[in-house]
Amino acid sequence: MKIYAHRGASGTHPENTLAAFEEAARLGIHGVELDVHLSKDGELVVIHDETIDRTSNGVGYVKDLTLAELRAYDFGNWFNEEFARESIPTLEEVLKIFQQTAHHVNIELKSDIFPYEGMGEKVLYLVEKMGMSDRVLISSFDHEAVRNFKKLAPHIKVAILTMDVLVDAYDYARIVPADALHIYLPSAHRKTTKEALLKGAIIRVFTVNDEVNAHALEKRGVHAIFTDFPERMKSVLEKGEV
Ligand code: G3P
Ligand code: CA
Repeated sequence: MKIYAHRGASGTHPENTLAAFEEAARLGIHGVELDVHLSKDGELVVIHDETIDRTSNGVGYVKDLTLAELRAYDFGNWFNEEFARESIPTLEEVLKIFQQTAHHVNIELKSDIFPYEGMGEKVLYLVEKMGMSDRVLISSFDHEAVRNFKKLAPHIKVAILTMDVLVDAYDYARIVPADALHIYLPSAHRKTTKEALLKGAIIRVFTVNDEVNAHALEKRGVHAIFTDFPERMKSVLEKGEV
């Protein structure tokens, strides 16, 4: 079972910062996950929430601030003062780190609240420019965005994100169409997941930070997990069940 570092190595470093991604890049894991929004001036920025309130010393919606305005804030100190100089990264800055490694990069399009017109096209342009289309995976809770991206770039893998317990998950993913399902941990233990796996679905589960669930999911045949603690989870899985 593969490991993706969720928002970078976000259990030990401030989520979605260069520090968190550099730490993930150092680890021999399969991949990394990150979240993108569009700034007021149309830049692709890496941050989880629609606002900067929780993860910086500023306030406001990402969509209402320019990149220069966003850069004025500190995105590390809230986590630990040791990271006080961390800034909000652009998608290009994060991809540059992984251009040098073999990691797969899961870009989550955060267009489920604000539609961020043209975001998919911008992501695609950047991924192609950086020659990373074979190592990039696009996902979103906005399944319309997943569908549109797949239409634009059939050669790039896409996944639907869901927190729901779906009926016929495998069939739904085919309708979108999506290459994989990224599902919420509680639903990973439900019958629908077992059925989807049996039908051949590719399933990755978020967010798995404990070894009991990690071993159970591996046994079940889940393809990958997203974890905030990639280094610890790597050693848990390498050791095997005791
Ligand atoms: O992509 C997996 C996971 O990151 C989805 O949920 O809220 O952490 O972005 P969230
Ligand atoms: Ca995410």
